[in-house]
Amino acid sequence: MSEIDFTEKLAEGFGAYNTKVGQWWVDQTRNEAHAAAYTNIANQVAKCAKKESGLIIDYGCGTGLLIKQLVGLLPAWDFLGIDGSKLMLREAEAWARATRKGRPAPIEFRRAQLPDFSVTKPKADIIVFTFPNIVAVPNERRQFETRFPKDRALAGLLAMKQEGEVEDVENLYDSLFMSRVVSRNLRLLLRKGGLCVRVDYSQAGRRDLKRFDQLSTKFEEGSLNAKQSHLQPQKFFSLLSSVYYPSAVILDVYEQTKDPDYLEGGYLVSVLKAL
Ligand SMILES: C[S@@+](CC[C@H](N)C(=O)[O-])C[C@H]1O[C@@H](n2cnc3c(N)ncnc32)[C@H](O)[C@@H]1O
Repeated sequence: MSEIDFTEKLAEGFGAYNTKVGQWWVDQTRNEAHAAAYTNIANQVAKCAKKESGLIIDYGCGTGLLIKQLVGLLPAWDFLGIDGSKLMLREAEAWARATRKGRPAPIEFRRAQLPDFSVTKPKADIIVFTFPNIVAVPNERRQFETRFPKDRALAGLLAMKQEGEVEDVENLYDSLFMSRVVSRNLRLLLRKGGLCVRVDYSQAGRRDLKRFDQLSTKFEEGSLNAKQSHLQPQKFFSLLSSVYYPSAVILDVYEQTKDPDYLEGGYLVSVLKAL
């Protein structure tokens, strides 16, 4: 069990992934549950890749272990992994160096703070976003609130609906709003009709989630179009499929939160189409 104070470390920003938190994540990705999950996810992504070649972006790629599996399944496809952590990308480069030799299509990694709306190209055919934990400190969040006022209002409205049900409405708002902004960034990096494969920690399949969790998931991923009070959310993804896999990867969440609710669960693989 990790002794890291994740709340304190992650409050410092995404740079935490260059320190103990990053080393913890590298260790997690090497366990059996993660190895099985990356194999399963890679097979699902490969099924989505209907063409001979194209571009797959891994958003918040970490050490690039999903790309590592995909290069074997999709030899003619280009891969671009984006992440903010030097430590993660150093690990990724270590395996990619040998894999690139004799391979006609590129495997590239780019270091960037996410979400990043300054780069709009290249457009991907598929974007993958697995085990997300995109960290943003309050002053980073504020610039996005100015840029996306409607999302801010909707996230505020949804969070208020939960007042009395959750301990910290402000935290819920932050998470709803930033997840939505990240989804907008995923959409920006995809061509129209391109696919987004999201892998989220979950305690159940979508239909078995509580009503509010179903609603917030749709809002966060950009697939919600039902009016909320007087506010109409913009739908920028449509959900094609979603499958739940029980897995010990859920213990990543338990280790970070120490919440016993996360001793059991797994992950959801959802495929969304860019509108
Ligand atoms: C939980 S790890 C998941 C990594 C990878 N997707 C996987 O499945 O192995 C979260 C990743 O997001 C990156 N990250 C977190 N916040 C970020 C930010 N604001 N900008 C860029 N990268 C960030 C971290 O460096 C880390 O590699």
